[in-house]
Amino acid sequence: MTDMYIEAKKIESYLVKIRRELHSQAELGFKEYKTSKIIRRELKKMGIPFSVISTGVLGVIKGKGKGKTIAVRADIDALPIVEATGLSFAAKEKGVMHACGHDAHTACALGAAKLLSNIKNEIKGNVKFIFQPAEEVSDENRDGAKDMIKAGAMKNPKPEAVIALHVDKPGKVGRISVKYGVAYANADMFSIKVTGKGGHGAEPQKAVDPVVAAAAIILNLQSIVSRNVSPLEAAVVSVTMFNAGQTSNVIPPFAMLEGTARSLNPKTQNIIRTKMKQIITETAKSYGAKAEMRYFAGYPAFGNDSGMIKLMEKVGVKLLGRKNVIVEKDPSMGGENFSFFAELAPGGFIRLGVGNKKKGIVNALHHPKFTIDEASLPVGAAVLAGTCVEFLNG
Ligand code: NI
Repeated sequence: MTDMYIEAKKIESYLVKIRRELHSQAELGFKEYKTSKIIRRELKKMGIPFSVISTGVLGVIKGKGKGKTIAVRADIDALPIVEATGLSFAAKEKGVMHACGHDAHTACALGAAKLLSNIKNEIKGNVKFIFQPAEEVSDENRDGAKDMIKAGAMKNPKPEAVIALHVDKPGKVGRISVKYGVAYANADMFSIKVTGKGGHGAEPQKAVDPVVAAAAIILNLQSIVSRNVSPLEAAVVSVTMFNAGQTSNVIPPFAMLEGTARSLNPKTQNIIRTKMKQIITETAKSYGAKAEMRYFAGYPAFGNDSGMIKLMEKVGVKLLGRKNVIVEKDPSMGGENFSFFAELAPGGFIRLGVGNKKKGIVNALHHPKFTIDEASLPVGAAVLAGTCVEFLNG
């Protein structure tokens, strides 16, 4: 088998150039017009046929022989953050930044496409490239992954496996990490409206104060994780927004809360949701107020397919050496809409080390100074391409 890491290092300057171009053109979810154009331009140069799905792009490499199909997914959107890296290729548009490394994901997938198109006569079967919009901005109405699936990304030919990677800041450059079993959490959202009765700040007895009721709700919600969920299970209930009132001497008529609930399985998710409803309703009632909750199940939790993650680990060890492939113990409580693809085919999702203390590359994902060590790009491209070859030809 071609040593994909050696091959990927040969195209390192290409990967860096593409990543920087994507970085400087950062665009928010569903608005990735320039990003989509760059991807299409590159696939065209490689002679890879593609179709366009809104701002998403779906490319397919058909190998010489007949065989299976594997999909490589990359998310392509950026975040609403004012970049403070000071890099020469920092985002041109103020307030939009690739602070989650999706520029690197896209560059790695394009790199894998380049490596595989160079050897397509040796490949049995097909490799699909799913460049998916909007990983960061999904809501009840629209989701970037679901859009790609609806448009047929997981059909004709149907992938028998789907793989992806995410940059990992604590991870050292040159390394990847794999996680067996559950890898990402159910990432649910909720909003609560507490309705009381407005009045004069000096005469609370004549009003029903939604601020005090909402404050009690926030505190009582904290008992769900500590008292209702098993201590052996992971769960999070965070109220992250509290809006009420406009001035100091008026009791407002209502208060708004928003937040997120995380869990690793449907049972815990259900306990949280049910208990939240009860606590919110009863607490509000005890203050003479009323509360309504909207609970929205976001990206579902997902576990890596054991066969696929084992294959990615094997490829990683072969290309990078045992010491550079970390087996993680804990899942992330973050959410990932890769889960929608992993519902339709065995999924393998790895993390790509991008940190480098010596170079001062230490900031966390979503930080305005987040950046990556670009030496990670050939690593990512090599592991993606190597996994495709191993899956199809192995
Ligand atoms: Ni991300």
